[in-house]
Amino acid sequence: MTIDILTLFPKMFDGFLSESIIKRAIEKGIVKINIINFRDFSRLNNHQVDDTPYGGGGGMVLMVPPLVEAIESRKTAESKVILMCPQGKTYTEEKALKLKQEKHLILVCGHYEGFDERIRNFVDEEISIGDYILTGGEIPAMAVSDSIIRLLDGVIKEESYQEESFSNNLLDYPTYTKPLEFRGLKVPDILLSGNHEKIKEWRRLEQIKKTKAKRNDLLK
Ligand SMILES: C[S@@+](CC[C@H](N)C(=O)[O-])C[C@H]1O[C@@H](n2cnc3c(N)ncnc32)[C@H](O)[C@@H]1O
Repeated sequence: MTIDILTLFPKMFDGFLSESIIKRAIEKGIVKINIINFRDFSRLNNHQVDDTPYGGGGGMVLMVPPLVEAIESRKTAESKVILMCPQGKTYTEEKALKLKQEKHLILVCGHYEGFDERIRNFVDEEISIGDYILTGGEIPAMAVSDSIIRLLDGVIKEESYQEESFSNNLLDYPTYTKPLEFRGLKVPDILLSGNHEKIKEWRRLEQIKKTKAKRNDLLK
C-alpha cells in the first residue's frame, strides 16, 4: 500500500515514520509513505497557500489550487482521496478494515480555519477522528494511517488484532503480566490453570462483561 499525506507541516511526521511498528512496516516494504508539502504547489509569491475568508471572519482559509494540484500530481485510477475534516464521517475500526483493502490513499491535512469549500469537489470522502477540533489534519492523518498499517499483512501477528476491542463489537478481555501479585492485586487464578478451553471461555465472558459496563452501545 502507498499512503501520500499532503500537509503544510511535514516535520510533524518525523517521529511517526521513524519509530516502532510503522518504521518496521516501511523498512519491510509493506507500506510506502510519502509526505508532500502542498506549499510546493503554490504558484503565488512566497508560495502562499492561504488567504482571508470572503465575507469576513477569523482565521486563514486554505486555497484550492495548490491542494488540487498536489492531489492531481499523485492521483491515479487506484487512488482514494480523503480529506481530514471534523465535518466528515467519524472514523472507526470497521472503516480501517475497509481502507486496508485500498492500494493508494491520499490523505489531505487542513490547518488554520480549514479549506476553501470547493476542495470537496476533488476528494472521494471526508474523515473525522471525533467530535472535537484539532489545530490541523496531521494528527488525524497519523491516526488513520497507523490504524490501517497495523492491519496490513506482515505488520503485526493476526491474532494480536483478531480479538482486540471493536472486533465482533466487543472490547478486549483483561490482560496481565508479571508480577503475579502487586499491592495485593492478584492475577486471576484461571490464567495460571493451563486449561486453555476454560481460559478462552473466561476471556469471552470478561469481554461481554466489560463491553456491557463500558460500551453497551457496541452490543447489538
Ligand atoms: C481548526 S480545524 C478547522 C475546523 C473548521 N473550521 C470547522 O469548524 O469545521 C483545521 C483542520 O484540522 C483538521 N481537523 C481538526 N479537527 C479534526 C478532526 N476531529 N478530524 C479530522 N480532522 C480534523 C482538518 O483538516 C481541519 O481542516
